[in-house]
Amino acid sequence: MTDEEGVEKQGPVVRVVRWLDSRLGLSYPLLRPVPRFSISPFYWLGALTVVAFTIQAVTGMILLIWYVPDPASAYQSTAFVFSSVTDGRFLETIHLYGAYSMILLAVMHMMRNYFVSSFKKPREAMWIVGMLMGFVTLGFGFTGYVLPWTQISVDATNVGINLLNPLPPSIVSFAKNLLGVTSGYSTELIRFEAIHIVLLPAALLLLLFGKMYMLEAHGIAPPAGELTPRQQRLIPLFPNVTVYLLELSALFTAALLVVSAAFPYTLPAQFSLTPPLNTPPPQPDWYFLWMYQILKLDVFEGTVGLSLGLTVITLIFAALFVLPFIDRGEERRIAKRPLFITLGAIFVAELAVLIYWGSVTPGQTIPNYEAVLILGGTALAVALIFAGIYKVMFSKLTGSLTPDAAVQSRSMTMKRAQLWTGSLFTLLLVGGSLAISGSISAFATMVTSGITNGELLALAGYLSGLGLVLFGTIYLLYRLDLATDSITSRVKVLEVGWPNDQ
Ligand code: HEM
Repeated sequence: MTDEEGVEKQGPVVRVVRWLDSRLGLSYPLLRPVPRFSISPFYWLGALTVVAFTIQAVTGMILLIWYVPDPASAYQSTAFVFSSVTDGRFLETIHLYGAYSMILLAVMHMMRNYFVSSFKKPREAMWIVGMLMGFVTLGFGFTGYVLPWTQISVDATNVGINLLNPLPPSIVSFAKNLLGVTSGYSTELIRFEAIHIVLLPAALLLLLFGKMYMLEAHGIAPPAGELTPRQQRLIPLFPNVTVYLLELSALFTAALLVVSAAFPYTLPAQFSLTPPLNTPPPQPDWYFLWMYQILKLDVFEGTVGLSLGLTVITLIFAALFVLPFIDRGEERRIAKRPLFITLGAIFVAELAVLIYWGSVTPGQTIPNYEAVLILGGTALAVALIFAGIYKVMFSKLTGSLTPDAAVQSRSMTMKRAQLWTGSLFTLLLVGGSLAISGSISAFATMVTSGITNGELLALAGYLSGLGLVLFGTIYLLYRLDLATDSITSRVKVLEVGWPNDQ
C-alpha cells in the first residue's frame, strides 16, 4: 500500500525488522544462501540438536539457582525444586526430556548423514567432529544423571566408572582422579557438576563452531543424483531460512513442553549407603542401556570377559569414527549402496532391540544362546528384508523400467516412490525387528521357564505383529508393482480405499 506521494507504506513490524536489519546487518550475506533442496526437516536435524542444547542450557542455568553439588544436600535441593518451586517439577521434566531429545536428535542426525552418506569427500572432517560432538552429548547424559544423587543414578554411575577397571592402571587412575572418584563422593559430585556445566558445554560450542565453519566452506551436502533447477535455487538465509528454522524450533519446543506437561517426571529415591533390600539392580539410562546389555551377555562375564566386551563396544565406536575412510567410494545413491545401507539398518535395529531387551531384563546375565537367537535373529531378519527390498524395489526404482511402464508410471514419480517406500519401509523394519525379537524372546522364555498364559499371550501378540509387518511388506510390494504396471493378477483386498485410476 502506498501513501498519496506513492511511497510504500510499511507496517510497524516491517519497519522494526528493517531498522534492525540496517543497523545489525542481518541480511548481510555473511552466511551462504541455502539451496531449495535442503528445505526439509531431515536436513536440519543438527540444527534441532542445537535447539535442544539451548533449551538444556536455559533450564539448566535456572536449576542452578537451587542445586547444591554436595552429597549431603544435592538430593534435598533437587527435591525442593520438585515440591516447592512453582512449576519446579515441570522445569526438571523439561531438562530431563530435553536431554533425551538432544541425544535422540543427535543419533537421528548421525544416521541420516550415514544413510545419505553426506560424510563423503569433502565432509569427512565434519563426520569426525560430529562423532566428537556425539560423545560430548553422551557425556552430558553420564555426568548429569548422577547430579540429583538418587539411588539408581549413583549406583549406575558407579557401575559406569568401574567399567574403566580393565584399562591400563595409569589410564584408570588418571580418569578416576579427573572424575574425583578417588577423593570421595563430595569431590566426585563437584567434579561431575563442573564437567556437566562448564567443560562439556565449552567443548560442544567449540566443536560446533568448527563444524559450522566447515559447513560454510562446503555447503550442505546435496542429495545424490540429478537436481532440478527448482531444487538448486538459492534461498536467502535471512529472513526466509531463519523463519523456517524458527518454525521448526517452535514445533520441537512445543512438542517437548507438551510431553513434559503430560508425563511429569517423578524423582526416584535418594541414594543411601545401605539401600533397602527391594532396591532395583543398577541400570543406566536408555542411551547407555544397549552397551550395558552387551556387557550382560554371559560370554562377557568375568574380568577377561569384561575386557572383551569393552573391546567390542570400542570397536563399534572406532568403526563409526573412521567410517568416511571405510566407505570411500564416490557412489552416494541409496539404491546403489546395498551393503552399507543394510549394515546401517542392522545397526539401528540392534540398538532398538538391545535397549528394549535391556529394559526388560534388569540385573540379569543373558545366556549366550539367547543372545545368538535374539541378536542373530534380528540381524538375519533385517538382512533378509533388505535383500528383498534391493532385489525387488530398488531394481525397479532405479530406472530398469521398460519404456511403456516408465511412461505409465508417471503418477508415481521416482521421488514420491522413494519417499513412500522409505517411510513405510522404516516402519516395517522397526516393527519387524521388535516383532521378531519379541517372538524369539517370548519363545525362549517359554523354553527355559515353562509355558504360562502370559508368555503365550505375549507370543501371540508378537506373532500377529509379525503378521502385520509381513502383510505391510506384501502391500508395499503390491503397490509398487501396480505403480510400475508389472502386476499380473490384481488382489482387490490390497486396493481397498485406493483411487480408481490405479
Ligand atoms: C550435539 C551433537 C550435534 C550437533 C549439535 C550437530 C550440529 C550440526 C549442524 C547444525 C549441522 C548443519 C546441518 C544440520 O542442521 O543438520 C550439521 C551437519 C553435519 N553433521 Fe552434525 N551435529 C551433531 C552431531 C553429529 C554427529 C554425531 C555426526 C556423525 C557422527 C554429525 C555429522 C554431521 C555431518 C556429516 C554434517 C554435514 C551434513 C551435510 O552437509 O549435509 N553430527 N551438524
